[in-house]
Amino acid sequence: MADQDPRGSIFIDPVAYADQERWHAAARELRREAPVLRVEAEGYTPFWAVTRYEDVFGVSRHNDRFLNTRNSVLGPDLQFEMLGALGIEPKTLIHMDGEEHREHRNVANAWFRPREVARRQAGIDDIAEEFVGRFRDLGGRCDFAQDIAVPYTLRVIMSIFGVPEEDEPTMLRLTQGIFGAADPEYLGDLSDPFAMVTKTIAEFEDYFNDMAAERRARPLDDLATVIANAEVGGCPMDRDATLWYFVIVATAGHDTTSFALSGGLEALLRHPDQVKALQADPGLAVNAGDEMIRWTSPVRHFLRYLTEPATLSGVEVPAGERLLLSYPSANRDETMFESPMTFDIHRPNANRMVAFGGGEHFCLGSTFARREIRTLLPRLLAAVDEIGLDGEPEFAQANFVGGVKHLPVSATLR
Ligand code: HEM
Repeated sequence: MADQDPRGSIFIDPVAYADQERWHAAARELRREAPVLRVEAEGYTPFWAVTRYEDVFGVSRHNDRFLNTRNSVLGPDLQFEMLGALGIEPKTLIHMDGEEHREHRNVANAWFRPREVARRQAGIDDIAEEFVGRFRDLGGRCDFAQDIAVPYTLRVIMSIFGVPEEDEPTMLRLTQGIFGAADPEYLGDLSDPFAMVTKTIAEFEDYFNDMAAERRARPLDDLATVIANAEVGGCPMDRDATLWYFVIVATAGHDTTSFALSGGLEALLRHPDQVKALQADPGLAVNAGDEMIRWTSPVRHFLRYLTEPATLSGVEVPAGERLLLSYPSANRDETMFESPMTFDIHRPNANRMVAFGGGEHFCLGSTFARREIRTLLPRLLAAVDEIGLDGEPEFAQANFVGGVKHLPVSATLR
């Protein structure tokens, strides 16, 4: 990769993210030496990597000066040119600004409010019980990431969305077709990640157009019904906007949460004293869940575009440039978190993490994600006397959404 400043490659190279220790050491260096680093890499429109907590948080909150519209996720220019040539222009909530964003976000906002999510707690409890049962059936020895975290988080989000259980494998495959495009494990028989994304989007389109038609004909008490019958500006939401809404809800919720759960458990298991503390006091699961999310920061970045020049950490960035907000780096910023490289479920300000972004785009599903983690964790630990790693974890090679994809664990069941 021929960048001018090689330090910027950690934000582009998917393989760099698979070695978290090295990645975080490099990010720490940047926070100190070059907190707003201009990155020029062959095939990529240049961007400025923003690594300090204060800047990531500040930019996120000023949606009028730092826009989302255009490409919100880093990728080679060629990929966007080819998508454009095929007439595929992603237009999810993430890709909107201002009034358009507010109107579209309002469609599903009520469903994600804490009170509404709390109403669904019994359903989350049932699913968590089911997966602790599966853990028992596996004798307490499994790949926690693939056997528990992935299917559990998928089941929760699909149950509120309204996708039947038998279609979950399709959803998983399609999500990995988009997010996992850079990880060799998910490439299947395709050697071209771009072709896979294009094919995936076409498959999503078929599935969701059918689903929308069905929910219009026979409404149910699920999120799919709300989206399919939504109005924006007094008119039915158009076909493309409906489709992209389905895509964001189907894809944003499970890989992210499952990476937080499996990477968080990995960190926890490296601290047996903290496992014991949680077993003794399940009430700690709320803070432990936030620390797991801070620690893992499964969403590696989003982009913002400057409407006017801005000065961040003393660096002047001209209008029209784009910023890469590095959530994993911000969440290990020593000016915000004491001993940030230490995983600590007692951390007093774990809930100040920026893993969910901020401002008007603040993660719509954060309440669900937090509840999923804090619901499963105490149940899992209550089922075991001892639990520990049973091999080395393996990280996904992905520069957008990633984390521990294989986590061998072994437990003595109670
Ligand atoms: C630990 C798990 C999760 C993490 C780390 C995460 C992270 C994020 C981040 C960083 C953003 C962008 C925020 C910004 O630009 O300021 C976002 C947006 C979003 N997330 Fe999540 N997310 C998680 C779980 C979920 C879940 C469970 C859902 C449920 C469907 C969800 C749905 C969304 C949606 C729809 C948006 C777009 C919001 C908008 O642009 O208005 N996420 N998430």
